[in-house]
Amino acid sequence: MSKPRILLTRTLTPRAHSRIVNDSRISLVHWSEPGAIPPEKFREMIKGVDGAIVLLTEKINADVLQAAGPQLKVISTVSVGYDHISVPDVKRLRPDLKIGITPDVLTDATAELTVGLLLATARRFKESLDIAKSGKWGDWNPQFLMGTQISGKSIGFFGFGRIGQAVAHRLKGFSPSRMTYFSPSPKPDAEKSLGAFRESSIEQFLGASDIVIVTCKLTGETRGIFNAKSFGLMRPGSIFINTARGGIVNHMDLFRALESGPLGSAGLDVTDPEPFPADHPLLTRPNCLILPHIGSATLETREAMADLAVSNCLAGVFGEELPAPVHF
Ligand code: DGY
Repeated sequence: MSKPRILLTRTLTPRAHSRIVNDSRISLVHWSEPGAIPPEKFREMIKGVDGAIVLLTEKINADVLQAAGPQLKVISTVSVGYDHISVPDVKRLRPDLKIGITPDVLTDATAELTVGLLLATARRFKESLDIAKSGKWGDWNPQFLMGTQISGKSIGFFGFGRIGQAVAHRLKGFSPSRMTYFSPSPKPDAEKSLGAFRESSIEQFLGASDIVIVTCKLTGETRGIFNAKSFGLMRPGSIFINTARGGIVNHMDLFRALESGPLGSAGLDVTDPEPFPADHPLLTRPNCLILPHIGSATLETREAMADLAVSNCLAGVFGEELPAPVHF
């Protein structure tokens, strides 16, 4: 019997990469050139394989599923988010296809980055770094680069899954006045352990938060939900943080809300598109700090994500339960 063939669309972190490369039970097809695999190359290389380990950069849609062929058993993405995989196309064309993701292993790293981004945004790191480098650093001045404190502020989580709760857990130590969340489903355990409560209307949620932290999934319902209307409901001077997906935000509306109010500042680890165009007006705003999607970027976490993605793919090609499947 021939060995299952697995497509790997990038070179992984060292430990996980050597695990898949050295697995003698499979035959590996590897895109080893730098950068993301071009879409036409992806459609060519996925043809005839039994499993594929992919990244956020690879769109899985009807074209790709058709190009792959009916023998494809599993798509394993090295990410917890799977908005790059068209669920309607999978359901329609390949309802038997298994999809693997990497939950839990990136929660701590992403929560830590979110806290860091909030502090950096609230305390004006972008402007401070620019001034420190520019030679415009004058005498100590009581009103110089005053930022916003976290203690005593009300923090609202838009989406309150694993990552949102892990951020709340860490921010509890900063003594916020209260923590609320907006989510389609109540989270009674988290309410109890974190002292957070659920707002039932978005108007109420946004109007009551000094700091809004987005940690929800990108879906048809959340795409573009942060726009002129929702920013208009936020408190004057409020802080907006997004470490989920850029598609949740209308970036020109965010620019205007930062320029003319009501927002005080914003910190983004994700944008739409990615990479974010270097000439985008948002990058000119001193009160907008943008990071290049590094939420899970620690060696420990990236190794754990890649390892889980390898395990998902191997389980799928050998007909076993995936350790971390998507349940449609
Ligand atoms: C994910 O896993 O979905 C993140 O955005 C990348 O770590």
